[in-house]
Amino acid sequence: MPSYVRAGALPPKRHIQFRRPDGGLYAEELLSTQGFESLYSLLYHLRPPTATIDVRAWDRRQPALSPNEPLRNRHFKTAQIATPGDAISSRTPVLGNADITIAIAQFTQAAPYFYRNVRGDELLFVHRGSGTLETPLGNLDYRAHDYLVIPVGTTYKVQPAEPTRMLVYETSGPVQIPRKYRNDFGQLAEHAPYYERDFRAPVLQNPIAERGEFEIRVSGKERNAIYTVANHPCDVVGWDGYCYPYAFNVDEFAPITGKLHQPPPAHATFEAPGAAFCAFVPRLFDYHPLAIPVPYNHSSVDCDEVLYYVSGNFMSRRGVEEGSITLHTAGAPHGPQPGTVEESLGKKSTDEIAVMVDTFGPLQIAKAATECEDAEYYRSWLEAPAKT
Ligand SMILES: [Fe+2]
Repeated sequence: MPSYVRAGALPPKRHIQFRRPDGGLYAEELLSTQGFESLYSLLYHLRPPTATIDVRAWDRRQPALSPNEPLRNRHFKTAQIATPGDAISSRTPVLGNADITIAIAQFTQAAPYFYRNVRGDELLFVHRGSGTLETPLGNLDYRAHDYLVIPVGTTYKVQPAEPTRMLVYETSGPVQIPRKYRNDFGQLAEHAPYYERDFRAPVLQNPIAERGEFEIRVSGKERNAIYTVANHPCDVVGWDGYCYPYAFNVDEFAPITGKLHQPPPAHATFEAPGAAFCAFVPRLFDYHPLAIPVPYNHSSVDCDEVLYYVSGNFMSRRGVEEGSITLHTAGAPHGPQPGTVEESLGKKSTDEIAVMVDTFGPLQIAKAATECEDAEYYRSWLEAPAKT
């Protein structure tokens, strides 16, 4: 979405005759969102993307989710999750509600099939690894600390070059750059913590003219299917528009810091229906002479806060490790653990990387999370008894 992109061969106007060298017509495809009312792209295929040989059921069941009962702050050591499979089949949901599913994916193998989420945009955060998203709009290389924004309806396949661990957010609508960062024309404003140059669009490849049988697994939460199509999905000779998958690496995020502690919205990266995303990256701490670098205790009384710990020294948080997820729930205050306020005084900077999503609907918990829960976490704010 960050800006208009065009790639490859295009006819001078949309919806007119555009012929292949052999005289046949290219097949134009409109990928549009929110009906015909929001972002869209126009693709030109060698052959129609509609040529469907077979559709069969895909038994991709959603895991059962349990309420956060008793309602409390929780810590899940998700580094312990190791579901085998590819980028799609290894996805292991840990938390979810009607707006969002949060999952862990770890994989070394490429999927032999394409995948398409038809319910909402996906936001992938690459914790470790590198590889390529192959899409009809081109290849999008990924590396550690990339956010990958994948619009609903994008057909893609993940080819890992290295073992890859991703945090997966499956949303129920568009993943967008917050309005506050954009001017009236959509351009990123001067005060935004990122700029159009920081976003990477797919690089269009030579069209694959293969015809045969190609599998596309289509997923829409409760509505799933396996399609077999006759034309390779990556047979596009050109496309243009605003709807395309893109990457943003949080190492490029220019965090907004201040004289006093900046609240999470200062670190916002993206937003989606019922969800707000933030990134905490290496940065200088607040510069008031009496500033307290770690956050104050807080109660976000009407949202659940899910922090995923990527790397660095998580100063305000005891007991977490790389890959930990903390769920700080509506209804329970949280803040620095005992002693960490004093320890933080005088510190000038942090090297931590963590990504967060706040959800406005209550999150439920999947079995995979319960199985790696540090069940004593909610007691971690207790001060040690005084020595007598
Ligand atoms: Fe918090």
